[in-house]
Order: sequence, then C-alpha cells, then structure tokens
Amino acid sequence: MTNINLDLQMLDTSEIEVSSVIQNVNASAGSGDEVWRNLYQEPMQSLHVEQIQAFVKPLGNSVKNVLVLGIGGSALGAKALFCALSTQTNNPQLFVLDNIDSHSVKETIATIKKRDTSLKNTIVIVISKSGNTAEIAALCMVARRELSQARFVAVTGKTGALHRLATREGWTQFPVPDGVGGRFSVLSPVGLLPAALCGIDIQGMLEGAREMDVSCRKLEGNPAADLATSLTAAMQGGRNIHVMMSYCDRLSPLTQWFVQLWAESLGKQTKSGERVGPTPVAAIGATDQHSMLQLWREGPKDKVIGFVHITELEELDLGTDAVDPELEWLCNQSMEKLLDAEMFATIQSMRDAGQSTWTLTLPKLDANHVGQFIALWEITVAIAGRILDINPYDQAGVELGKQLTRKAFD
Ligand code: PA5
Repeated sequence: MTNINLDLQMLDTSEIEVSSVIQNVNASAGSGDEVWRNLYQEPMQSLHVEQIQAFVKPLGNSVKNVLVLGIGGSALGAKALFCALSTQTNNPQLFVLDNIDSHSVKETIATIKKRDTSLKNTIVIVISKSGNTAEIAALCMVARRELSQARFVAVTGKTGALHRLATREGWTQFPVPDGVGGRFSVLSPVGLLPAALCGIDIQGMLEGAREMDVSCRKLEGNPAADLATSLTAAMQGGRNIHVMMSYCDRLSPLTQWFVQLWAESLGKQTKSGERVGPTPVAAIGATDQHSMLQLWREGPKDKVIGFVHITELEELDLGTDAVDPELEWLCNQSMEKLLDAEMFATIQSMRDAGQSTWTLTLPKLDANHVGQFIALWEITVAIAGRILDINPYDQAGVELGKQLTRKAFD
C-alpha cells in the first residue's frame, strides 16, 4: 500500500539530534506506557480481532443502532473511524454520547427508540478504561433505565465499577490492556468494536498502522521523527498554535481526535517545572477559509498550519448552467477540482505570509490510510514527549477535574 506522504514545506527541519531519541522510543515500543504499539502487532491484534469477530459475525445484518457511551479517548476514536470510513449501506447507525447534556441524551435515546422500537437490534457499548468516570456512570444509569431491552457490552480494564457491573450483569466484556491510555486506545477494542459493528475493515486499519510503524522506527526518513522535531522546534521558537486543517468533511472528527492527542499528551510541566505545550486547533477546508484564514494571513506568526489532503475524492460535476456570466469559469469543472485549487491557493498564501506549514497527503480515504494516520501521530507524540522532557501518558489536570467534581457531592 502507498504510504501517506508528509511534506514539511516551510516548517524548518530542526537541528535536534534525534537518533538517540528514536532508539529510545524503539526500545520501549510495546512495554510500560507504550503497550499501545502492540495493538497492531501479533499476538495482541489477533486476540482482539478474533474476540470482536466472534461477537460481531453472529449478529449478521440485524443490528440497527450502535450506541457508544464514552468520553475523551474512550469516544473520539469511534466517532472518527465511523465518520471517515462508514459506507452507510446496510450498516447500523452509530450514536456516541460523550457528554452529559440532558437534551442530547434524550434526543439520542428517542431517535434510537424510533429506529428500533423493540430495541432488540440495538447494542449499547459502555466504554471506560478506569470504569469509574462519573459522566459514563451517569449515562449508563440513564441508558440502562431507558434502553433496558437493548444488549449491553462493556469495554474496560480489569478493575473498576464498570468491570464489576458488567460481571454482575453477565455482559460480554472486551479489554483495554494495561499500558494503553485512553487517547492511545483507538486501535484497541475501544475503537475496533464499534468500528467492526459498523462494517469497517478493522484488519485493514491495523495493517496500515503496522506499515507506518515500520517507517517510524527508521533513523533516517522517519516521518514521525520529522514531525516531532519540527513541531517541537517551532513551538520553542514561538509557534505554539498547531492547526490541523482537513480538506474533507469526513475527516473532521479525526482532526478532533488529533486535538485531544496533542493537547492532553503534550500540555505538561517538564521535570524542572516549566509549563510547555502546543495549542492544537481543528479546522476544515474550504469552510474555515471564510473564518480563521484571515487571522492566519495577517495575524501573528505564532502558528504552524498543517493541511490534510486526500488525492482521490469522489467526483461531482458542476455542469454547464452557471449562476451568472461572471461565474462561468465554474462550468464543466468538478467540486474536487475547486476544493483542491482552494487548498493549494491557501497553502501558497500561508507561505507568502510567512506562516509555517506542512501537508499530509492520503492517496485515498480507506482503512489502511486511516490506520497509517493514527500510528503516525501516536508515534510522533511518543517522540515529541521525549524531546520536550515530559510524560505524554499522564493527565494530572484531567484527574484533578474528576476529583473536584466528586468533592462537590460530599
Ligand atoms: O485520554 C485519556 O486518558 C482521557 O481522555 C480518558 O480517555 C477519559 O478521561 C475517559 O477515561 P475513562 O476511559 O477511564 O472513562
């Protein structure tokens, strides 16, 4: 399969000597907090795929609704995979409740009940690595009451309240292995189970991730090391705002997945107490050309603007009936040609304005390339964490929020 292509354009390749960092990352791959690199290697991948297929295959085409209850890393991956890769035909609809907003919870439950009145063809997947997250416990209480006829399953760790509930109720359970943190769990049953239920090629995705992992072990021409060194150097040089702009609506949730990975992993205090971290921003082309682009063009040079481009998009012919003689130049063109032209023009205007840019090109939007994209950014974070001298795998700020919420009910 063709690899996704990284072009660092105006992003300065840094002077950082990165070979020893790459060697260190390679040596830790698959152990400690970096067990997530085993998710697309044997034996772990077959273990998960076989367990998932044993659950999914007997269901045939019967499933109408898949409802995921999860938050942060336990939800963003499923959303991203469904939006990027689901084909809609004969596949169930995925619903994700990743917030405790009563309105959206009620609306979602009502929609699910309308689509499947008996609820016999509805699967509720409760996902929480810790099993103790308040938002998920609250959503689970409501879902068990309102959707009691649906089939419930859990994706969780070996301990915690969700594990205890699932065991008590006899629900099928899928693992989140130790050493796989929430935001690194999309290629575990956390992302794979909802994806497989929605007809997505999970094997193809794991294969793509494995291919990218091979490239990201190299000492030279390593795309993750190139991204990590250039983006950390840009940050240290005052370009703290890291935009990811995808020219494809289906990639919108995947850019949100990147935002969480980048922010929650790299926004930390170093061992010497210095506060570091880029501020990631998600954008969509061409829409955000009519919004943030002005700021990027004339505002401060404190950003790196990354473009995600898909080479092979569906064609849509614009036809010959122009809305006005002034717009006749659009006749006989296609929507993709216009979108591409807008992206290349934006890259050029950013270069001219002295902003740093990079472009990632996916030959097409399929499971293999999405798998490559995920592994690329996860490994980039592993390398960037070492360069910045921070631990990308903890989240003390998030945990504090959970504790303070609990205290409010004492
Ligand atoms: O990436 C992370 O670790 C977090 O975003 C968690 O996924 C999130 O806080 C949910 O935690 P849990 O899966 O334990 O419910």
